[in-house]
Amino acid sequence: MSKVALVTGGTRGIGLAISMQLKEDGFQVVAIYHGNEEAAEKFRADTKCHAYKADVSNYEDCKAVFEKIKEEVGAIEILVNNAGITRDSTLHKMKPENWHAVIETNLTSCFYTSHIVINGMRERGFGRIINISSINGQKGQFGQTNYSAAKAGMIGFTKALALEGAAKGITVNAVCPGYIETDMTSAINKEVLDSIIRQIPITRMGKPEEIAAAVSFLASDKAAFITGATLSINGGQYMA
Ligand code: CAA
Repeated sequence: MSKVALVTGGTRGIGLAISMQLKEDGFQVVAIYHGNEEAAEKFRADTKCHAYKADVSNYEDCKAVFEKIKEEVGAIEILVNNAGITRDSTLHKMKPENWHAVIETNLTSCFYTSHIVINGMRERGFGRIINISSINGQKGQFGQTNYSAAKAGMIGFTKALALEGAAKGITVNAVCPGYIETDMTSAINKEVLDSIIRQIPITRMGKPEEIAAAVSFLASDKAAFITGATLSINGGQYMA
């Protein structure tokens, strides 16, 4: 039986590319989506993979949906925490609700999903948790105190959980994409985006597939000795 891999935010953007790569590499993929029903329907039709609706910032919702997935598809052996949002603004203009939304959706969600799957992984003596952080969690980004804090938090979370999982066959790694061609980056003001692209030595934005390839490798048996790592994939924009 192929292993079950769950990807949050797995029907669009980087998450979609991750879902497709994992499927190509022989995993049984389950995507979690939140709002976009149309994208979820297209995902199901195009990939023949499962897509379940859940709010990753809500523990009870995740718990109920993950339980359903366990019954209907199987135990989750690979968890990719990819779901994320931006609510960019400078700190002096930031509304408290935009701080909380980003911290809860991008960071607290990793606690929720990992907390739900970790005991099963410990019992089976195998697990892969891959957290999609960001270059902006590594270097900070003007206008993103909330997002940079959440993404930096994911790196610390990754390292601590990697220590806890190591003796149980569970690896935990963080991948830090730079600026990748997705709906999220297409929302950035053109002038700002142009100035960002000028800072990328490879002179272009990344493609979702370039993140997905690394994630699928980290999910594979070949990556068994990699844990607690932070993998930068950013065209040389920031060399942490
Ligand atoms: N560094 C220093 N100063 C800057 C700056 C920067 N990077 N960007 C803007 N400023 C300055 C401006 O020149 C301006 O100065 P003056 O008042 O002296 O003219 C001042 O800061 C105010 O800037 P803005 O007018 O831009 O402020 P704003 O409130 O209109 O916009 C913002 C703020 C919406 C955050 C805008 O700066 C922005 O869109 N920044 C980009 C944020 C970004 O990169 N988001 C990434 C989204 S994609 C993603 O997050 C995926 C991932 O993981 C990589």
